[in-house]
Amino acid sequence: MGQAFYVTTPIYYVNDKPHIGHTYTTVMADVAARYHRLRGDEVWFLTGTDEHGQKVLRKAQERGLSPREHADELHQRFKDVWARLDISYDDFIRTTETRHSAVVQQVLQTLYERGDIYRASYAGWYSTAAERFWTEKDLIDGKCPESGLPVEWLEESNYFFKMSHYADQLRRWIEERPDWVRPEYRRNEVLGALRKDIGDLCISRPVSRMSWGIPLPFDADYVTYVWFDALLNYVSALGYGSSDGKFQKFWPANLQLIGKDILTTHTLYWGTMLFAMGLEPADCIFAHGWWTVEGQKMSKSLGNVVDPHLLCDAYGPEPVRYVLMSEKAPGPDGDFSHRGFQLRYNAELANDIGNLAHRALNMTQRWLDSVVPPLDPDTEADLALAQLTRDAIATYAAQMDRVEMHEVVAQIVAIAGAGNKYVDSQAPWALNKAGDRARLGGVLRRVLELCRVVGVLLAPFCPSHARELLGRLGAGEPAWTDQLAQLNQLTEGATISVGEPLFARMLELPPTIIAALAAIEPPAAPQKTKESRVSQPPNAPAKPVEAAKPAEAAPPAEAAKPAEVPLIEYDDFAKVQLRAGRVLSAERHPNADRLIVMKVDVGEPEPRTIVAGIASRYAPEELVGQQVVAVVNLKPVKLRGVVSQGMLLAAGGGNVQAMVTTTQSVDPGTIIR
Ligand code: MSP
Repeated sequence: MGQAFYVTTPIYYVNDKPHIGHTYTTVMADVAARYHRLRGDEVWFLTGTDEHGQKVLRKAQERGLSPREHADELHQRFKDVWARLDISYDDFIRTTETRHSAVVQQVLQTLYERGDIYRASYAGWYSTAAERFWTEKDLIDGKCPESGLPVEWLEESNYFFKMSHYADQLRRWIEERPDWVRPEYRRNEVLGALRKDIGDLCISRPVSRMSWGIPLPFDADYVTYVWFDALLNYVSALGYGSSDGKFQKFWPANLQLIGKDILTTHTLYWGTMLFAMGLEPADCIFAHGWWTVEGQKMSKSLGNVVDPHLLCDAYGPEPVRYVLMSEKAPGPDGDFSHRGFQLRYNAELANDIGNLAHRALNMTQRWLDSVVPPLDPDTEADLALAQLTRDAIATYAAQMDRVEMHEVVAQIVAIAGAGNKYVDSQAPWALNKAGDRARLGGVLRRVLELCRVVGVLLAPFCPSHARELLGRLGAGEPAWTDQLAQLNQLTEGATISVGEPLFARMLELPPTIIAALAAIEPPAAPQKTKESRVSQPPNAPAKPVEAAKPAEAAPPAEAAKPAEVPLIEYDDFAKVQLRAGRVLSAERHPNADRLIVMKVDVGEPEPRTIVAGIASRYAPEELVGQQVVAVVNLKPVKLRGVVSQGMLLAAGGGNVQAMVTTTQSVDPGTIIR
C-alpha cells in the first residue's frame, strides 16, 4: 500500500437539487480519489449532505413532514446522481446521523470546558429569510441585502467561539505554507482577512427561534449554528474521538475541495476550530471557481440551472465527467455551454482519443490478424514519441498533485494527438502496401502501446471507457506501474478486438438539450457570479450584488439576417492575422478602471502587451494562463498611456461575457487565420 490519501467535498444542503456546481466539485474529488487508488494509495473519499438549519425545517413544514423525514427523502437525490456519475465515495455522511451529532456535542463540551466557548449578548438586524444578523450599513433600503425582505432588531444572548484567539496561529500557519489555500489569489484573500480583526464566532441559535439543530450539551435552550455543525463532518466521518484508527490514519486530510463562496468558513472558521481542538488543518484547501451557464449566472429564475441527470441522459455520464474537468481551469470561473460541450467532446474524446483507438485497433485487425505485433528497432520518430509520452505522463502526475485537472486532461489529449500525427507520418497503409511487415508491426505496436497509456490515464476521468479500451487491447485492468511510459508493455501475440467507436461523434446536439436551451431566458444584463466572501468578517453580510446595468441588446445570432450585415470581400478578411496566445500576466490599468494590461505570449521571442476593456468581467488573476485568440497585425494604439500591441477576441460586444479561448493543447503562436 502507498500512502493514505483523504479527500473531501463540501456536504451539500439537502434542500438543493443537485446541479452542475455540486457535480463539478464531486467529480473533481472522484478523479483525485481514483488517481490515488491507481497509484496504490490508501484512499478515503468523503462526501455527504448538510441537513440542519432553518431552511430545512421550513421546507419540511411546508411539505407536512418532520425535518428528519424530509432529509431522509431528499438526501437520496445526491446519492442517486453520484451513482449515475460513478462517484466512488468511501463514505457519505449526513449531519443528522448520531455518529456526527455525538462528535459535535463532544467538541462543543470540550471547548466550553476549556473556556473557548463563552456566553455573551448580541444585537443586530435579524433576517429570518437569510437566517442571520446584519449590521446597519449592510442593509439596503433598510431591508435584508440577501433576500430583500424586512429585518427586525433582535437582541439575544448567545454562545461564541473564541475564534480571534487563534487568528495569529492561523496567520502563521498560512504564511509558512504557500499551498495551504489554493489558488494563490484565494490564499491572499484569506491573508487579507486575517490582517483585520476576525472577531469571535456566534455558534448558537436559541431553540425558540430555530430548533432544527444539534443541542448544545451545556445548555438545552440552544442548538449549534449550522456551520459549526457542518464543518465537523470532516472529522466525525472518520470516527474522531474513537480509537478505531481511521481518524489517526486519514487526518489531516490531503485535499479539501470547496467552491470559492465557502472559503471563509473553511479557512477562518474551520482552521481556528481545528486549532482549538488541538488538531492540524488539511494539507490543502482548494477553492474552485464557479460555472456560469451559456454566459449567464446560473439561477432558478433564468431557468438555466444545469441538471446533471439531463447531461447524463443526453451525453452519457463519462463524457460529462470528462468535459467538466477539461472545459474550465479549476481556480477561475468558467462558462458551461452545450455548444462548448459538443466541441470539446468531438475534438478530444471523439477525434483525438477515440480516433487514435479506432485507427490502431482497426489497422491491427485488418493487416495483422488482430494480433499484438513485435516491436522493431527504434527510429528517431519512435524515440521522439516515447519521449513525448514520458514527459506528458510526468506532467499529468504533477498537475494532478496541483489539482489542475484541465492540465491533466490536456496531457491525455497531447499523447493522443501525438499518436495520430505519428500514424500520419509513418503511414502504415503505405508500409502494408509495400509489404514491410516488420516496420508495419513496429509502428502499430507503438500506437497500440499509446492507446494503453491513454487508457490508464483516462481511467480517473472515464473509468468504464478506460476499462473497455484496455480490455480491447488485452491489457487487463488499469494499473499505474513504473513501466507505464514504456512503449513495450502489451503482451506480444495477444488478441485485440475492435468494437464500436469508444466515443461516437456528436453531429448535432441531442433534442433534449435543444429544448433545454430554448427554455433559458435570454441574457438581460452583464453577469457576475457570486463573489467570494472572505474579505468580510464572519457572520457579516455578503456584498450586495452589483446593480445590473441595462442590456446592450445584442440580437440572438439567428435574428441577424445576412442582408442587414455589411458584407466584406474575402481579401479584406484575409488581411486579419489571428494567433493562439497565452496570457502570462495581467494587471489593472493604472489609469482606467475598465482596462486590463496583459502580457500575452503569441509565439514570438517577446510577449506582447495587450490592453483590453474586460475589467468588468474578469479579475486579472482569472486571466493568467487563459488560452486566448489574438489579432496580431493591428497597428499599435496607445490606450490611456499604455501601448497595446494587438487585440484579444471576446464574446459579448460592449458587455464582455467571455474571452474567446482555445483548447489547452494549442501552442501559443499557432496560426488561426
Ligand atoms: N452546506 C454548505 C457546505 C458545508 S461544507 C462543511 C454548502 N452547500 S451548497 O449545497 O450550497 O454548496 C455546495 C457547493 O456547491 C459549494 O462548494 C459551492 O461553491 C458549489 N456551487 C454552487 N453553485 C456553483 C456554481 N454555479 N458553480 C460551481 N460550484 C458552485 O455551501
